[in-house]
Amino acid sequence: MSPRHHLGVFGGGQLGRMLGLAAAPLGLSCSFYEPSGAECPAALLGPILGDQKHSPEAVHAFLDSADVFTYEFENIDVGLVERIARHKPVYPGLESLRLTQNRLYEKSLFAELSIPTATWLAVNSLAELKTATSALGLPLVLKTTTQGYDGKGQFILRSTGDLMDAWQHLGTSSPLIAEQFIAFRREMSIIAVRDQQGNTATYPLTENIHLKGILSHSLTPAPEVTLSTQQTANRYIDSLLTRLNHVGVLTLELFETDNGLLANEMAPRVHNSGHWSIEGALCSQFENHVRAVLGLPLGATSCPRPTAMINLIGQIPERADILSIPGAHLHLYGKSPRPGRKLGHITLSADSHAELNQLMLDIARHLPNPMALSLRP
Ligand SMILES: Nc1ncnc2c1ncn2[C@@H]1O[C@H](COP(=O)(O)OP(=O)(O)O)[C@@H](O)[C@H]1O
Ligand SMILES: [Mg+2]
Repeated sequence: MSPRHHLGVFGGGQLGRMLGLAAAPLGLSCSFYEPSGAECPAALLGPILGDQKHSPEAVHAFLDSADVFTYEFENIDVGLVERIARHKPVYPGLESLRLTQNRLYEKSLFAELSIPTATWLAVNSLAELKTATSALGLPLVLKTTTQGYDGKGQFILRSTGDLMDAWQHLGTSSPLIAEQFIAFRREMSIIAVRDQQGNTATYPLTENIHLKGILSHSLTPAPEVTLSTQQTANRYIDSLLTRLNHVGVLTLELFETDNGLLANEMAPRVHNSGHWSIEGALCSQFENHVRAVLGLPLGATSCPRPTAMINLIGQIPERADILSIPGAHLHLYGKSPRPGRKLGHITLSADSHAELNQLMLDIARHLPNPMALSLRP
């Protein structure tokens, strides 16, 4: 088979941009299918193709632009991906895409693989929501089954008085899923990559701190993780990779509880909680994803020094302020500021978690609240 050099990416957001940045030094070029147009974050890295209607001309131009295809986001039109997959390889496969588009399919898959989760029920009517409230107890998290991200499409019911409110907010988006509210100790994620031969490599567990449903910052390796917790997470992600016949990066979000790990959701792609790996790992999640989908050997996933990633949400600090902190890496995505929007991130590494914490406090001085407040211990 002839060597493959061109990667087509569905989506031209920041994940597409960072995939392109990882592909470039390997001598690989990218094109992006992004109907929102040439202003997108990935525009720096290759041609932006596609149109809102997915016209035959636009899809053909994208098909012609690359040898192998991938996606940066799971909430895309499966039919569109299928049109490409009929002619050229798309990794991860369609199975990974279909399953992760729907929280009910995802939770059912976790059950099939004996990966524990919060107790949940499908909800299709106000009556079923009432039943779920009595069966699962309160508080309870009601979520849309599709299209949710960054905490969007969710409602927490704390008392039966919230029933009507919750239904008014989300009822029109049914089907829904109701989940028992988990009073977790902390949130973590595990990221792994699988190549076309079935070899896998797994990054250390990352601790994730969210603010209003959006990732605020993360720490890798997650502090004070026992060997058995890491092994359990590895076992869960391995079984998912194998079951899905996945090629590329897969992310599993977890709750750590007094009774062990519970799976929350997964993403068939590079993930915000893996951004630390650009500077913090021997081979980043982006490079490993590119390697996997292009049939190249995987890179090492170890994290030599504790590394923090801090998201820049809604506002961008002064470049010079961040860069004045030794060792701080700034990544801006070329997006215009808007409340709740991920605009960039900062990465820092140190010799210990204590030293890392100090560096994060230095960063916090330059960040607007509440981003800064969430970094204070
Ligand atoms: N069952 C739950 N119990 C407690 N907190 C939850 C639960 N489900 C979600 N959350 C919180 O909301 C955040 C976002 O929910 P998630 O299911 O990951 O959706 P998404 O990231 O797609 O918006 C989680 O990271 C967690 O902080
Ligand atoms: Mg999530």
